[in-house]
Amino acid sequence: MEFYPSLPRPKPSGRPWLMINMIASADGAIAVDGTSGALGNPADEAVFSAVRACADWILAAAGTVRAERYGLPRPGAASRRARRAAGRADRPRLAVVSGSLDLGLGLPLFAEQHPDDDPPLILTGRDAAAGAVEALESVAEVVRLASARPQPAEILAELDRRGAGVVLSEGGPSFNGQLADAGVIDELCLSIAPLVAGGASPRIVHGSLRTVPIDLSIDHLLEASGTLFVRYLSATAC
Ligand SMILES: NC(=O)c1ccc[n+]([C@@H]2O[C@H](COP(=O)([O-])OP(=O)(O)OC[C@H]3O[C@@H](n4cnc5c(N)ncnc54)[C@H](OP(=O)(O)O)[C@@H]3O)[C@@H](O)[C@H]2O)c1
Repeated sequence: MEFYPSLPRPKPSGRPWLMINMIASADGAIAVDGTSGALGNPADEAVFSAVRACADWILAAAGTVRAERYGLPRPGAASRRARRAAGRADRPRLAVVSGSLDLGLGLPLFAEQHPDDDPPLILTGRDAAAGAVEALESVAEVVRLASARPQPAEILAELDRRGAGVVLSEGGPSFNGQLADAGVIDELCLSIAPLVAGGASPRIVHGSLRTVPIDLSIDHLLEASGTLFVRYLSATAC
């Protein structure tokens, strides 16, 4: 996986290249008991780090940040080397999309900051409550975007303005649905875990209103510890 960060990801006009990284069970579940933890294994963790090493910014929606108790990205030495070799800063920055700003200050991304960390960027809508913005401003940079509910194009334009060449969305599924509807998915990194989860979990893209499928082609297919790792490119990005 060391080569992943150096694969070509040409920036489309006016926005960064957008990758999505998700893990699913063989029957398509993205969570067991509310989180993705039970789907992973050490091989998948290595892939997760390698995929993160490809990105200037990591983007996650608030539901995922709450469920998975996100912290700030702190790449290990190998990831930092891969990032430098690909011309990236040592760490990606984290952006979180939230309308409600109902993000507890006890979440690790706020509560476990180090003095040299860049604060998370919280992207919200134009009508976000002043009190909620103020409550987060000591631990985050909060930006109100123009729409009442930020649209993928606005979110990517904001990250583009900040110099992002590659943005990695880590979901969740309902946010991925909006990205699919906006037609901005350039790359899908999908890990398929060797188990049948059952249950009523959504798929990796949920709630999309698309009627036209996004065609994908397989760029890489790897296997480790029974987990399949597929790097798909969207037909429009090839
Ligand atoms: N298997 C995997 O790889 C994987 C990856 C990620 C997540 N997950 C799982 O997926 C689940 C969470 O996914 P989810 O689909 O329920 O939620 P989600 O997409 O992670 O988050 C939805 C929330 O994000 C905010 N949001 C989304 N789009 C927005 C927009 N355009 N403008 C403003 N805010 C927006 C809203 O937060 P507010 O309520 O704050 O307004 C919304 O309630 C968890 O179980 C998690 O463990 C699995």
